[in-house]
Amino acid sequence: MTYRQARWDEPPIWDLAHAHAPEPAPAIPGVPERFRRREALRWPELSEPTVVRHYTRLSQMNFGIDSGVYPLGSCTMKYNPKLSELLARRPGAAQVHPYQPESTVQGSLEIAWRLERLLARITGFHEVSLQPAAGAHGEYTSLLMVKAHYRELGELERRTEVLLPDTAHGTNPASASMAGFVTREIPSKDGCVDLAALKAALSERTACFMLTNPNTAGLFESEILEISEAVHAAGAMLYYDGANLNAILGVTNPGRMGFDIAHLNLHKTFATPHGGGGPGAGVIGAGELLAPYLPVPRIAKRGRKFHLDYDRPKSIGKVKTAYGNFGLDLRAYAFILAHGEEGLRHVSRRAVLNSNYLAARLGRRLPRPFRPLVKHEFVLSGAPLRERGVRTLDLAKRLLDEGVHAPTVYFPTLVEEALMLELPETESKRELDAFAEAVGRALDDSPEHLKAAPTSCSVGRIDEVRAAREPVLSWKDLRTGASVKVETP
Ligand SMILES: Cc1ncc(COP(=O)(O)O)c(C=O)c1O
Repeated sequence: MTYRQARWDEPPIWDLAHAHAPEPAPAIPGVPERFRRREALRWPELSEPTVVRHYTRLSQMNFGIDSGVYPLGSCTMKYNPKLSELLARRPGAAQVHPYQPESTVQGSLEIAWRLERLLARITGFHEVSLQPAAGAHGEYTSLLMVKAHYRELGELERRTEVLLPDTAHGTNPASASMAGFVTREIPSKDGCVDLAALKAALSERTACFMLTNPNTAGLFESEILEISEAVHAAGAMLYYDGANLNAILGVTNPGRMGFDIAHLNLHKTFATPHGGGGPGAGVIGAGELLAPYLPVPRIAKRGRKFHLDYDRPKSIGKVKTAYGNFGLDLRAYAFILAHGEEGLRHVSRRAVLNSNYLAARLGRRLPRPFRPLVKHEFVLSGAPLRERGVRTLDLAKRLLDEGVHAPTVYFPTLVEEALMLELPETESKRELDAFAEAVGRALDDSPEHLKAAPTSCSVGRIDEVRAAREPVLSWKDLRTGASVKVETP
């Protein structure tokens, strides 16, 4: 199959628009005079077909999970069932206002309450909060809870350090720094935490050790119970980055492994759209010790009624408007109910099988730095490509010409020329085989083609650093019709 992405010469929508003559703002009954607009908004004037064609063309120049496989390791790009989408768009869910009186949103509150309980069971935690808007937001919120705990114990002044393995996702140290901690890296041994190095680093200054299991090399930290014991013996907390929960659903859980607190990315495990830093859902689960610090409001049940409970004296307070990104919660709730307990276990087994199948196939072409069976994702090294004058980046760009998305590249950083792949349970064997063949074709291509790729996409190889540092931005003044280029410093 030859891949050719659409190439439309599509202007910004503002260039297709006519200026809309300003009209007096409509008087909305009940809105006091002082809050009314003096003048109507200057909406661009466009016909429906113009708008539909514009966005259809743009979507044809894009790539998404609905167009093909998206093997991004660490990011878990699952296909999102359209049934969940339909449910989330039903007026009863989509048109609820966050500040409606509780008595009018009993159904939504009940769903959120039930989802919290399901997630508590899945994670093995005491309580769950749906509030944070993304994984990184969940990390930051959890670390504020850890801080609140040590403040209460009178240990905050000395517990200033957060330890992280060198395989940690970048958001972990970023969240720890933003929460005011000093971060310290723990080296890995054969892809897993070096227990001796961890023990040597733990001290009365340690507030928390942040870990994901399986880790970002796709390996299960088999010494997790020893890790948990060592962290707790130092009086510190064990934090679970639940982005990789997809690998262990229904098989084990962070509560059983000794973790005190965790964030989950609903978008990675329970098939909801990725938030791009939010609006996602980075729910948090906490054991008995840290649960009292969860953000308010908590969803409580009194008799048969549900309500938002702000009466939590130890809570760190509010981290998100209303009760989180409800649309995502609803999609995840539908996903969990549709699968059931055995179905969720099957999700993980299938994700792990997919990963090992593909690792075995691609491991014949590129070195695999970590040989044991992997969980839901695996790492290859593109180092041998250097002998032909090309790099992992060239292979990733060449894959785009095959009509697939590129894997994650140059992460984890401890692997030279790393490629990190994850094809979750929603991909069939047929897709895995087609992907492996696409990688084979890309590897067999000439260095010239690899370096020139992509040539079949709407956009060729761009200077990504320059695009970020010197963006070309413009806007149109709808009163005069003039296009204005924004000068960037
Ligand atoms: C292991 C891991 N932790 C945390 C995050 C952060 O999640 P989010 O992108 O929702 O902020 C990611 C995202 O890719 C991840 O892979």
